[in-house]
Amino acid sequence: MNRILILFAHPALEKSKVQISLLKAAQSVDGVTIHDLYELYPDGLIDVVYEQDALTEHDIILFQHPFYWYSAPAMLKEWQDLVLEYGFAYGASGNALRGKTLANIISAGGSKNSYSTHGHNRYSIIDLLRPFDQTANLCGMNYLPPFAVHRTHDMPKEKIEMYAELYRQLLWKLQRDLPSEETLASLRYLNDWVQS
Ligand SMILES: Cc1cc2nc3c(=O)[nH]c(=O)nc-3n(C[C@H](O)[C@H](O)[C@H](O)COP(=O)(O)O)c2cc1C
Repeated sequence: MNRILILFAHPALEKSKVQISLLKAAQSVDGVTIHDLYELYPDGLIDVVYEQDALTEHDIILFQHPFYWYSAPAMLKEWQDLVLEYGFAYGASGNALRGKTLANIISAGGSKNSYSTHGHNRYSIIDLLRPFDQTANLCGMNYLPPFAVHRTHDMPKEKIEMYAELYRQLLWKLQRDLPSEETLASLRYLNDWVQS
């Protein structure tokens, strides 16, 4: 079984509709570890050793967050800046993450179509997530396409629940399997892999 660690970042969870449902879905899957960063570190002081130990003990790392200004909320950036240290995550002797897998689990206000050359967001989600892709690459990790919930504004409760169930199935599947090289060559979203 692949051991999954979710680094969850939402700065206003009390207002959340989508991420709170995805979080509850993740909490219902046995054996998944969740670090709710804003809850764990209300003063912003991240326990680097605790976080690095957790990374060492897991195979698949998921950054779960709303898409904020085409990236992640600030706490997840702080986590990266502090936890992915030289000599641990990268550099000549920084091999701790080698061979592990990284993916983003995101929700975005913008529609799928808006994230294209012809849409008002101009770039695809895949393009905008390149800094995460390259971070994974530098650390010797495999980067998967994202799981994404688009067009979150006014999304009906039933549709949110449908995505939460899909996410639960994704976690279950990731514990047992990873997309093959062949599948990855044409996969844009993990949503499509779990539905296949
Ligand atoms: C500060 C902020 C920045 C945001 N930036 C983006 C963005 O760059 N692209 C986008 O599609 N949606 C953006 N949104 C919308 C959020 O992604 C969306 O409201 C969120 O994913 C919904 O999940 P929630 O119900 O868990 O909060 C932004 C929202 C906020 C509050």
